[in-house]
Amino acid sequence: MPRNIDNFHRKIDYLRISITDWCNLRCIYCRPQGKWKKLPHEEILSYEEIIEISKVATNLGITKIRITGGEPLLRRNIIYLCKELSQLKGLKSLTVTTNGVLLKHFASELYRAGVHRLNVSLDTLDPDKYRRITGKNMFHKVWDGIEEALMVGFYPVKINVVAIRGINDDEIGELARLTFRYPLHVRFIELMPFLNHGSDSVDRFISTDEILSRLREVSDIKPVSSSNVNGPATHFRFRGALGKVGLISPISHHFCPTCNRLRLTADGKLRACLFSDAEIDIKTPLRSGASHKELEKVFHQAILNKPEKHSLKAMSGTDIPPHRPMVAIGG
Ligand code: 5AD
Ligand code: SF4
Repeated sequence: MPRNIDNFHRKIDYLRISITDWCNLRCIYCRPQGKWKKLPHEEILSYEEIIEISKVATNLGITKIRITGGEPLLRRNIIYLCKELSQLKGLKSLTVTTNGVLLKHFASELYRAGVHRLNVSLDTLDPDKYRRITGKNMFHKVWDGIEEALMVGFYPVKINVVAIRGINDDEIGELARLTFRYPLHVRFIELMPFLNHGSDSVDRFISTDEILSRLREVSDIKPVSSSNVNGPATHFRFRGALGKVGLISPISHHFCPTCNRLRLTADGKLRACLFSDAEIDIKTPLRSGASHKELEKVFHQAILNKPEKHSLKAMSGTDIPPHRPMVAIGG
């Protein structure tokens, strides 16, 4: 029996590694306002520790690693980490999720370090609105970063758009239309309720079905088959477009039955589900000198810990969102 199969016959081959809980933005749907305290340095896994855990992971059948944060490009020497991870035996794909603020500077180095795919978070094409959503006036920096990423050869560059009623729903068409001019994958993500949200999550929620009907008003759009069968997005393409449009429905259509992922938090916990606070500490055994074999056991246990599904609806009031804010989990 392969050791990356969970109790519900899902093959776990995707590890998302959060390398920092810090971020230079404050997106309204992600960061707790005010008193979020950064993890102390000694609590954060060192790069050597991350590499060690990644070796254990790839040994057990992880083939895809995504580096996330907070904002991963804020952590010093990230290029070193990417170079090391990209050389791991058994790893087929190394990707980074970034808010794009520092991307212009890092794009070419990241590419040369073996990262060839990127996800960039961008919820609006309006600089003022960008400031309202993220707290910072950085739209142009992000856009320059996306252009640079395309120029140095990243493919695909995926744009993550969290759809929020009353905030960016008027731009769904315009954001999707980017795919006519650029080979971008524009992905609309349903707003997920988290602790720091007020009670307005229900009003702000837009289902991907509604998004799709808005896309149909833009132009002729057809489903396309996806190369990554395990990905949570369903893909579409406008006739004649260079890029694709993706819809990600964590709330309205659970993708739990095909979920193939595990998360490693910046402070060294293996988290089997974004929406479940059940975590397994791998840092303590690692720091107390556990052998590779013993770490494999811990990792395997985390895989067996994966719940069958989450029970979130669009913030019904009875759902209990996770205790860590998104910025500490890495999306
Ligand atoms: N709902 C949906 N997506 C979210 N992200 C962060 N918080 C939320 C939320 N509450 C996504 C952002 C980013 C990624 C890291 O996580 O779009 O792209
Ligand atoms: Fe930072 Fe990303 Fe959270 Fe926005 S969504 S605050 S960019 S971690």
